Amino acid sequence: MTRILSRAAALSRIRSEFGPHLVPPPNAFRPGPRTTCRQTLCTNPPFDSAMDLSDMRKKYKGDGECFEESQLSFLDPVKQFGHWFDEATKCPEIGEANAMCIATATTDGRPSARMVLLKGFSDEGFRFFTNYESRKGGELESNPHACLVFYWEPLNRQVRIEGHVKRIPFQTSCDYFHSRPKSSQIGAVVSRQSTPVPGRDFLRQRNAELEEKYKDTEVPMPDYWGGYLVKPHLMEFWQGQTNRLHDRIVFTKPPDGEASPEGFEHRAEGGWVYRRLSP
Ligand SMILES: Cc1cc2nc3c(=O)[nH]c(=O)nc-3n(C[C@H](O)[C@H](O)[C@H](O)COP(=O)(O)O)c2cc1C
Repeated sequence: MTRILSRAAALSRIRSEFGPHLVPPPNAFRPGPRTTCRQTLCTNPPFDSAMDLSDMRKKYKGDGECFEESQLSFLDPVKQFGHWFDEATKCPEIGEANAMCIATATTDGRPSARMVLLKGFSDEGFRFFTNYESRKGGELESNPHACLVFYWEPLNRQVRIEGHVKRIPFQTSCDYFHSRPKSSQIGAVVSRQSTPVPGRDFLRQRNAELEEKYKDTEVPMPDYWGGYLVKPHLMEFWQGQTNRLHDRIVFTKPPDGEASPEGFEHRAEGGWVYRRLSP
């Protein structure tokens, strides 16, 4: 018999299973082998019903505008990224096409993510700048792997890039640092990114001191600041469809050109292969 739990009963069950903080593990609402889908879906999740967002849904593309393999402009995923990036920069509704989310993780697998700006890309990889002593910097130093995600909402497109990360050469960082407006250079020196400060006035005061100090001289780039390069081994191109049969074409670079046991793969350029994934 399908069982529909009342909200109070559901909350009490969740509290007893997961403790008072209501943070159930990700599979908490997955049906077990002997539960039915209905039972699971009708269990009220531990959200305030005033925040129910179940009706928030936008139309994406129709089937006539889907993204077929034949529409890949390039069989090199970095060049294909360049093509989509170009379209994103030309789209007037997209304010910062180079804004991307970067996910990093600690060595014991705890992830963290935040936005940064892409400052260049080539066959060598995808480049961004930050504080090496920030949270992301610390995570990248001990676990040099990252995932980048671009979402260009008006185009219904997402690109996901996974790769190994390394610092770019000191001089390249220096050249970029000094190409930025002086106020941004000083800002980078002021900010020991991700560390606590007593208040905004602390930053204001330090900023004013450094503006005075460097008023007639170049701002030296701090050694805790610089660029990273993400060298991709996976790049996925996603385009949304209203009926949720989204297009996903993923390029991977198999080590030593090994064929994947999953099949359906096509040879691309530069040691890459690509395949379509279920949405
Ligand atoms: C659109 C956008 C662009 C950003 N660009 C950068 C950037 O290029 N570099 C950077 O260090 N932080 C950038 N930030 C700030 C980061 O999101 C983040 O707050 C900061 O890097 C500290 O992150 P962490 O403590 O996880 O290391 C940006 C934030 C936004 C919203």
